[in-house]
Amino acid sequence: MNNKEHLKSLHKQMEKENLGPLWASIHDLNTIEPKSKPIPYLWKKDLIRKYLDKSERLLTVGDGADRRAVFLINPGMKDLEPVGWGGATQTLFAAVQAVKPGEIAPAHRHTTTALRYIINGEGARGRVNGEQITFEPGDFLTTPTWTWHDHTNVGDEEVWWMDCLDVPFTKFLGTCFTEFYDEMQQELYVPDDYSSTRYQGGMIRPVNDRDPKIAPLGRYKWELTKTGLDGLSMHDPDPIDGHAVEYINPSTGKDANDRIGARMQKLPTNFKGIAHRHVHSTIYHVVSGRGYTVMNGVRFDWKKGDFFVAPSWTWHEHVNTSDEEESFLFSTNDLPIMESFNFEVKEDYGENGGHQKIESVFNPSPIK
Ligand SMILES: [Fe+2]
Ligand SMILES: [Fe+2]
Repeated sequence: MNNKEHLKSLHKQMEKENLGPLWASIHDLNTIEPKSKPIPYLWKKDLIRKYLDKSERLLTVGDGADRRAVFLINPGMKDLEPVGWGGATQTLFAAVQAVKPGEIAPAHRHTTTALRYIINGEGARGRVNGEQITFEPGDFLTTPTWTWHDHTNVGDEEVWWMDCLDVPFTKFLGTCFTEFYDEMQQELYVPDDYSSTRYQGGMIRPVNDRDPKIAPLGRYKWELTKTGLDGLSMHDPDPIDGHAVEYINPSTGKDANDRIGARMQKLPTNFKGIAHRHVHSTIYHVVSGRGYTVMNGVRFDWKKGDFFVAPSWTWHEHVNTSDEEESFLFSTNDLPIMESFNFEVKEDYGENGGHQKIESVFNPSPIK
């Protein structure tokens, strides 16, 4: 055996003893730039709907199932047991949850932190930390870490929303605790919609709330977000993101949820954004409109209801293909995590006027 073969055999022996040769692995561990395990990907609304519909026939929420929700598994994370660590990106989990009239999704709490975006349907209510909150389409809602939460639907139509949690991040750190409430629904300690009525949109705050222990505003109403975007739309759009706003904690000015950022953006008609990349990852939900996003040279076509993800360090640029309809994208990101560890880096795509060359078009799973 020559030296090379001896080394190869040495590596195999070491692996059996749960040891690694750094001389052979250093470039895989300390990469020149981020090498994301999750990949850019897209899920069509109809695919998610198909499996939500099938599950509806087989299970009842509150009677054997805590939640009826279909979550996104990034193909690049599929090998992580169990269930791809629930990773849509390296840190974030996302699901579409359906609640039928009369159902109660029982109360629990967990150290993973959560937020929601109401996709459609009137009548849902969520109880969070002793407050009953009205959920309406377009609303953004926070469920901070370790707060009791349960949901119900008092209306007469099915309600759908997007859940986003930092499940893979928490799983990686080994820090997840969950606790179940004794009753289906938690006790209420304050009047309904207490935080919304006290804070309104978040421009003002009650004088005795300078240092709230948890996120003080549970619900961010769609009409107020829309008003903010309308105001922003009186000015030139950002060349990358169009007209975009972030949901903030009105008491600190930081992200509404400590560990997950959330945004709403409007791409004007015929908007053709330029590309950039950053360390933080993003999950997008298409609220309305149609267009495409080029990620690492692949064109991902989207329309209302679809979801797509841009993992860490992915080149991405958004295009609204309609000359009549604006596109709205709701998105969640792990920027607060990246910033708190000083990891966030951004880069603009300098070549070709800021536009990637489209090398292929993504083919979503066929819906049979
Ligand atoms: Fe939960
Ligand atoms: Fe971005």
